[in-house]
Parts: sequence; structure tokens; C-alpha cells
Amino acid sequence: MRYTIFGESHGPAIGVTLEGVPTGIELDWAFIRSELARRAPGKDPTSTPRKEADEPEVLSGLFEGRTTGTPLCAVIRNTDTRSKDYSQLKDMPRPGHADYTGQVRYGGYNDYRGGGHFSGRLTAPLVFAGAVAKLVLKERGIGVTARVSQIAGIQDPTPEQAQAAILAAKAEQDSVGGCIRCAVTGMPAGMGAPDFGCNVEGIFSQHLFAVPAVKGIAFGAGFGFAAMRGSEANDAFCLEDGQIRTRTNHTGGVNGGITNGMPVEFEVVFRPTPSISRPQQTVSLSRMEETELTIEGRHDPCVVLRALPVVEAAAALAACEVLRIG
Ligand SMILES: Cc1cc2nc3c(=O)[nH]c(=O)nc-3n(C[C@H](O)[C@H](O)[C@H](O)COP(=O)(O)O)c2cc1C
Repeated sequence: MRYTIFGESHGPAIGVTLEGVPTGIELDWAFIRSELARRAPGKDPTSTPRKEADEPEVLSGLFEGRTTGTPLCAVIRNTDTRSKDYSQLKDMPRPGHADYTGQVRYGGYNDYRGGGHFSGRLTAPLVFAGAVAKLVLKERGIGVTARVSQIAGIQDPTPEQAQAAILAAKAEQDSVGGCIRCAVTGMPAGMGAPDFGCNVEGIFSQHLFAVPAVKGIAFGAGFGFAAMRGSEANDAFCLEDGQIRTRTNHTGGVNGGITNGMPVEFEVVFRPTPSISRPQQTVSLSRMEETELTIEGRHDPCVVLRALPVVEAAAALAACEVLRIG
């Protein structure tokens, strides 16, 4: 299934077109809405106070509640926009954000309001597409689950520790990053290939790097392999109810770019939110001189908690590609 996300943070709507969806999939709206609600902002002080209904409206590819197999297009209207907050960003790009690169890349014609097409808000339609992918995978006995594995340097934080670390950074007009660990269970062995464009790690990476603020991905033991011996790192084969399995899953379910039947497991790292309210140095593009920028507008002091369903969505779409669905 291929997807295209469209729209801008402060335009009339954002949305997604998903092609290659299998026919006859019943869209479970309670599930789709609960996935979007997991991502939605404004629930607690660790996220931006921007509040939107995030109600998807399907324009095509659905008939009498089931997918038709033609492009499935859904839009989500933008309702809580305050464009005036962002007027200075055209001239003074935010450090760490895509204001400068977007302006260079699109010749100054980009809609910079609220981050435009680079906004974290664009992950709402990704979650919609991912929810459809999850419904497709569920029919094949495949599940996708993610958890927060690090916030601000704290490993496996409790919700209280995570909230305390995020609010401490926010109080200092700052932001924090973290990691999410995700597992795709029920993947059959033998999918993928070692080659460029077909290997499982490559496909997952492509999908995960399309999520804004993701700066790294590692499979299984990941960078921990650097300190391991082969005897420790190797996943011993064993038999479980007559099925070939491995006792450990250090390689994250992939050998030679091909699934081995164990869960495909990976960790992604999210950078601290670029938009922080403390003054920062930038350059005025009109005056071509260094200047100080104080960012206004509403921002997440940490994007990791809201990104959980986004990572699962990207993983579900990656799993569909590995399985050659569509
Ligand atoms: C769920 C989510 C919410 C985000 N919210 C914000 C935000 O409020 N402010 C901000 O500056 N960046 C936010 N981001 C991150 C930016 O979109 C991202 O850093 C920017 O597009 C630059 O891309 P890059 O970090 O991948 O290089 C968010 C990302 C996600 C996934």
C-alpha cells in the first residue's frame, strides 16, 4: 500500500491517499478514532494546547463501510489555527526546524505557517493510514505495539517520571527527546530480500524516517551489538510447538534482510522538539544578519508520548510493504 500525505498545518485540511488497499476491509471507526485520539494534542500539560477534533472524512475508496480497492482518501479539517503566531518565521528560521530547508527547497513558496507541511500535525493522517494498515494486518494475525523506552535520558520511565522530566524542561523554556521501541508480531518467516529496496530493515527505515523528528532507528539489540560477543549476540534456534523460533531476538527478527519469524523489533529516537520558547540565535534572511529569535505559538515540550501511535502506524505500513500487500 502506497500513501501520500497532503496538506499544511494552517491550511483548510490535511489528509492522506492510500493506494493498493485490499478490498472488503471493514473500517472499524471506533478503532480508527481511538488511534487518532492517542495522537491528539491538548490532553495534558506535556503536549501542545492546540485542540482539534481530528475527525477523518473519507472522500473515496469506501462503499457501504468497506474498502473498494480504489484509492482511499481521507481528510481531517484544521479548526484550531492561529496563523498570526508564526509570521516572523518566514524571515527568521527556527533552529532545528524545517523553516530554512523548506524555504530553500521550495523556492520561498512554502506555507510556513505552523511548520506548514513539516508540522507534526501531518502525522494525524499517517495515523489514519496506519489504522487501516493495522486492520489489514489483523486479518493475517499480525499486531503492532510500541512503548516509550526512554525520555530525557531516563530508561523505561514510568508515566510519572516521563511527565516530571518533560515538565521540568518546559519550566526552563526547553524541550526533551526520547526513544520508542516497537514490535511487529506474527510476521511470517521468509519475507523481504537482502537487496537494496527490498530488505526489511531498509523498508522499515524508509517508513520511520518519514515521521518528523525521528533521527535514528536500530533493530533488535541495535547499537548494543557494539559491546557484545558473537556468542552473546547470536539468537539460538529452537523448536516451539514444532515451529522454528529463536531463544532470544537480538537481531530484531531479521537476518539477511529477510524476516525469520520472530517479532520485527526496532527502536527509534526522537530529537527534542525544535520549537522552544527560550531566545535562540538565528539569521534574518531579509537583512542577512544574525539576530535573536523568541518563538511564539503552541508547541509540544516533548513529542515522544504523542508519537507512539505514529510509530505504530509507520511500522504497520512498512509491514504491509514487506508482505507485499497491495
Ligand atoms: C507528534 C509530533 C508532534 C510534533 N510537534 C511539534 C511541535 O509542537 N513543535 C515543533 O517545533 N516540532 C514538532 N514536531 C517535530 C517537527 O515536526 C520536526 O522536528 C520538523 O518537521 C523537522 O523535521 P526533523 O526533526 O525530522 O528534521 C512534532 C513531531 C511529531 C511526530
